[in-house]
Amino acid sequence: MDIDILQFLEQEGIASRLVEGVKEFRAQFPVREEEFRDRIPVPEYLYYGKDVWEKAIAALLAGENLLLTGPKATGKNVLAENLAYVFGRPAWNVSFHISTEASFLIGADTYDGDKVVFRPGPIYLTAQNGGFVVLDEINMARNEALAVLHSALDFRHIIDVPGYKKVRVHEAARFIATMNYGYAGTRDLNAALASRFVVLNMPVATEKDLKKLITGRFPAINDQICDQFMKLFYELEKKASHADISDRAVDLRGLLDALRLIEKGIASGAALDMCIVNKTFDPFEQQLVRDVVSARLPADLTAEDVFTA
Ligand SMILES: Nc1ncnc2c1ncn2[C@@H]1O[C@H](COP(=O)(O)OP(=O)(O)O)[C@@H](O)[C@H]1O
Ligand SMILES: [Mg+2]
Repeated sequence: MDIDILQFLEQEGIASRLVEGVKEFRAQFPVREEEFRDRIPVPEYLYYGKDVWEKAIAALLAGENLLLTGPKATGKNVLAENLAYVFGRPAWNVSFHISTEASFLIGADTYDGDKVVFRPGPIYLTAQNGGFVVLDEINMARNEALAVLHSALDFRHIIDVPGYKKVRVHEAARFIATMNYGYAGTRDLNAALASRFVVLNMPVATEKDLKKLITGRFPAINDQICDQFMKLFYELEKKASHADISDRAVDLRGLLDALRLIEKGIASGAALDMCIVNKTFDPFEQQLVRDVVSARLPADLTAEDVFTA
């Protein structure tokens, strides 16, 4: 994507003092080394949502770390990547799981075939080089592995590498964690860690933003059909919030995938089955979801019907 992201922020109506703040930050922390410039992510998709943009930028300018919480497919990872790009920072990414180890996060001694050397982990590299690190699904890790982050995230701004010296966290480094939080709750994040973040609850995209998102990605989409897709999404969301269905079918990622399949020649019904309906495995729920889908969109729409422009 070749876009002027600061211009995009202005178009989205982001407060100009925040955009100015970003410009100052970038001027203060230029990235000179080739190897780190390559790590500044160029996002494939833009994040839409003025309120979230403003809160996230303000928090990062204030030196805070961000915890993005919310249902799946609310753009948490897209926003995190966009933020690294906006601030012009090299980015690292860690996907957390039950066996994530502190030694993986910080780094560990390894044998290079000749001698023992320290191989730095993503948290160490972020701290040393003023990166932005995405701590993806941070709540999935065990508390013991996460304890090494405490001193990096609070006022101490250091990482204590066992057997080595302490590493100061670079002034431009930021930690952006994500955590899925559905209608039926989630695995929790311990309070000590949560208290070290500013928490941004990610909303489901508004109609205006969803329209921008879909038409941005599918410029040729028929206007009325686009509206039906949007209504379908909000209807599923409403049903999940009333606990009529689970949140499995409330999947914006799936909706966009369905459009992509239709573009490739799959009929609308089959595409929506594959990308939405079949994500629920309970037969009763599946039928409910299928009914909502078929009430909105005929099953036999082709690419020519959907992409008319
Ligand atoms: N507000 C939004 N702005 C832009 N894209 C969004 C938004 N909400 C959802 N998406 C889209 O939904 C999909 C999933 O986004 P992702 O960041 O992976 O979600 P999450 O990490 O919250 O599960 C992407 O295609 C993304 O572009
Ligand atoms: Mg995610």
